[in-house]
Amino acid sequence: MAPGKDDSSKAASELQYAPATLGIHGDDPLNSSTDVAPPMHVSTTFRYSHNPDELVPGEDEEASATLLQGLRCPLTFHQLTGFEPHVYSRLSAPNTSRLERILSRLCHGQALTYSSGLSSFHAMCVLLRPKVVAIYEGYHGCHGVLGILERLYGVKKVDLRDESAWDAAGLGKGDMVHVETPLNPTGEAYNLAEFAEKAHKRGAYLTVDATFGPPGLQDPFEWGADVVMHSGTKYVGGHSDMLCGVLVVRRKDWFQQLYTDRIFLGSVMGSFEGWLGVRSLRTLELRVQRQSKNTEALVSWLDGLMRAGSGEEGAAVAVSDDAIVVKELVARLQHASLQKKDMGWLKKQMPNGFGPVFTIWMRDRETAKRLPSKLKLFHHATSLGGAESLIEWRRMSDRTVDDRVMRLSIGVEDFQDLKSDLLNGMRELAKELRLGGKAQARL
Ligand SMILES: Cc1ncc(COP(=O)(O)O)c(C=O)c1O
Repeated sequence: MAPGKDDSSKAASELQYAPATLGIHGDDPLNSSTDVAPPMHVSTTFRYSHNPDELVPGEDEEASATLLQGLRCPLTFHQLTGFEPHVYSRLSAPNTSRLERILSRLCHGQALTYSSGLSSFHAMCVLLRPKVVAIYEGYHGCHGVLGILERLYGVKKVDLRDESAWDAAGLGKGDMVHVETPLNPTGEAYNLAEFAEKAHKRGAYLTVDATFGPPGLQDPFEWGADVVMHSGTKYVGGHSDMLCGVLVVRRKDWFQQLYTDRIFLGSVMGSFEGWLGVRSLRTLELRVQRQSKNTEALVSWLDGLMRAGSGEEGAAVAVSDDAIVVKELVARLQHASLQKKDMGWLKKQMPNGFGPVFTIWMRDRETAKRLPSKLKLFHHATSLGGAESLIEWRRMSDRTVDDRVMRLSIGVEDFQDLKSDLLNGMRELAKELRLGGKAQARL
């Protein structure tokens, strides 16, 4: 179908497709050529029509709604959504529009992309202009952005768990209750319906960083979110090769404001990232379900070994050699799948899996520092969400986190191979530590 001719009955029926189908067909209406794989567009500027009668200088009603700080943004709503010709790539560009269209379908709102997850968090704060933000620890970079806003405008931060602190700081109309779920780095999930109620009764907005629970795993709008954000660098990209941020809103006025703001903030993704993003979304559902399943199986296996011999449900019956090694090295595990008492709401909010990131608390700093060197299939690197498994001694990139924390981002490899790699690595580490201990004792 040629661009500019959105078949709205088709667009409406698309809404009924499952995420696996939308990842592949969500951008069909923007197919402007016969290519099956989307062409890569590198141009920053696009020719206007050669026909003077088709030159519309953007003076219609919708365009005037996008006036910002005295600057005229000559775009109609249809241009914003990729159905009319592009003008300049800081405004919109073909590959990015395709990515945004698929994301809009998958996330059940209007999606805009940004140059990184943090630039999308910043854009969200520019849109909502909160005076107070309730937030949990989570990803440290978002706190960095709030630090800048505090310096510029005195924005206050309060602890998400402490409602009395919200009220003491005057959290109310137009402020932000920001929930990252599942949380970085632990992989623990939070009850969005509960936070929506607490935010909305004060006139505040619920903003959700859903990076760890991408489309297919959770839909924050269903539980009361006003704005949903993602670091698209993670599962949207999915191959550790692009930076991307995503904001999704349902209010048309917010979408237009975000779009206009992005023109002047200049925080757009490059066209190559737009192209990579579409390539990646084709397999989003497959990757994420597999990664999430692998993760749950690994967590359950490790948890069973840690509780071996306890007689508790899910615990290994006998205390095997493997269990001895795991008990020796691991102090604690964290992942939403272990939140047994929360399963009532959690299974509703994350019906297809609890996300592909979990945390192992090693027994001490030294053990944590050494584990990655014993693994063959896990890269020791920061970030997450790629097809390949990563492990990170979290202290390398976040000094606010306990120095025993290992963050694992599970990829699409075979579960048995990942399990063997972790077990062999832990065996080797335990042996090394025991030998080291004996040598110490001899001194
Ligand atoms: C939960 C979460 N939000 C936001 C970000 C920031 O994303 P980006 O690195 O794409 O700016 C990250 C990055 O790790 C993250 O984990």
